[in-house]
Amino acid sequence: MALNTTNPTGTEAWKNLQNHYNAIQSSTIQELFQQDATRVENFNLQWNDFLVDYSKNNITKETISLLLELANSIGLKNAIADYFNGEIINQTENRAVLHTALRASEAAVIKVDGENVIPEVYEVKNKIKKFTSEVISGDRKGFTGKAFTDIVNIGIGGSDLGPAMAVEALQFYKNHLNVHFVSNVDGDHVNEVIKKLNPETTLFLIVSKTFTTQETLSNSETIKEWFLKSASQEDIAKHFVAVSTNIQKVTEFGINADNIFPMWDWVGGRFSLWSAVGLSIALAIGFDNYNQLLVGANEMDDHFKSADFDQNIPVTLALLSIWYNNFFGAESEALIPYTQYLQKLAPYLQQATMESNGKSVGRDGKPVNYQTGTIIWGEPGTNSQHAFFQLIHQGTKLIPTDFIGFIKPLYGNEDHHDKLMSNFFAQTEALMNGKTAAQVQAEFDKQGLNAEKASYLLPFKVFTGNKPTNTILVQKLTPKSLGSLIALYEHKIFVQGIIWNIFSYDQWGVELGKQLANSILDEIKSETVKNHDSSTSFLLNHFLKNK
Ligand code: F6P
Repeated sequence: MALNTTNPTGTEAWKNLQNHYNAIQSSTIQELFQQDATRVENFNLQWNDFLVDYSKNNITKETISLLLELANSIGLKNAIADYFNGEIINQTENRAVLHTALRASEAAVIKVDGENVIPEVYEVKNKIKKFTSEVISGDRKGFTGKAFTDIVNIGIGGSDLGPAMAVEALQFYKNHLNVHFVSNVDGDHVNEVIKKLNPETTLFLIVSKTFTTQETLSNSETIKEWFLKSASQEDIAKHFVAVSTNIQKVTEFGINADNIFPMWDWVGGRFSLWSAVGLSIALAIGFDNYNQLLVGANEMDDHFKSADFDQNIPVTLALLSIWYNNFFGAESEALIPYTQYLQKLAPYLQQATMESNGKSVGRDGKPVNYQTGTIIWGEPGTNSQHAFFQLIHQGTKLIPTDFIGFIKPLYGNEDHHDKLMSNFFAQTEALMNGKTAAQVQAEFDKQGLNAEKASYLLPFKVFTGNKPTNTILVQKLTPKSLGSLIALYEHKIFVQGIIWNIFSYDQWGVELGKQLANSILDEIKSETVKNHDSSTSFLLNHFLKNK
């Protein structure tokens, strides 16, 4: 069934939300807490080992009920069913969107074109299991009979960001294999990686859904050339594997049929880490841990599918994001994990979120007349506190922020963890409460500051507060909890796309740059600058003259 094409701004719920916004916009979060000291009881969700406190937002019970009314009037319930049942919800590419099938149980039945896809999903999973255990145990060897020590994932976008993020996030669970990532077509990137490697003990994973991506193919050719300086053509079969839907192109590259891990066109690149695209993750942490990542995601899928919307974590976070984006005019959202392990979470979610919902044409083919998309950015706390938090606290922009923290540290260093988490709690409190002129003055009085100095400094030291945050507190960073966390954000993206009436699973916007780069490459190679605007011609001529 096609997704409906309701313009959200035309719904009664949207108009009610606009009126409600006009009525409550000037009240602060502090005032809401003063009016109801128990407010957190109404605005927190607990599920598995996740606690989500969303009470520090500019919302009342009425806000939530109006946002839920919006979700219902857009037909979110049916859209979720279509998403999980394999309906063609990526209509512009005529595809289902079934990354959720990759983490479904073996007993599930999920059909694409009338065929249950679960048996082939499990066939590939079993292949991943066998392959990874042979590499990890050292039974699978390189061309001189040595076990593998290094793995290189060659891919870009969804074929890089998810695996790179998860390998980094789960390094506590890692085995002896060193895992590297080559993504950028910048030759310096691939050379920096190659210089650390021994061809005899390195396994290369070429990951490209389409197997046509310039960056990945160029890096693969460069690596193959480097490898062949020490090995023969036949040795490629032992050292190169590919993950792709384009079996023909992979075979043309010279990869042995046994070394091909298939994927499917119903898995979007930016949601593909659950497929064989996650081979580097399974190699790094072992199949059982990798499988736990999938189990965690599957449990979040079940929660998202079955929980009532007012108890549903992805739905709640998506609606809050819409509230700030479309009514308060917030331009971006920050994501601050209080663990160094999640330092690549924001870049990973940038692709998932911004490639998905960076659209300005509605599902009805008409330009939208409201804001879509979310700009995501962030870095781990506490580093980010010493970098950009000043702007969140005292700048002019409203930046709703998700704080993600874990109750248990992985190495058991309680002292460090207590310090880390005290910052985690302090920041959301400071962002909400700020510091009043009276509080600042009291500090000055205590310090004995003279009146002239105090009155000069006072305005700079006042924090208005009233900065919204969500706190996501999880028991421990494990493969399973990471799987749930990623799936949570995937479903948040889905809900927002449905409400914004856009197609979240295509990415036509990245194609134009690729086409232009190809024609400019021909001009650079032939040293002939063709017809461009004067700026581009000027830059190209300068480059060619000085190269
Ligand atoms: O950036 C565009 C894009 O198509 C992404 O959606 C995708 O993840 C990436 O390029 C890589 O594509 P592929 O896996 O086909 O090489």
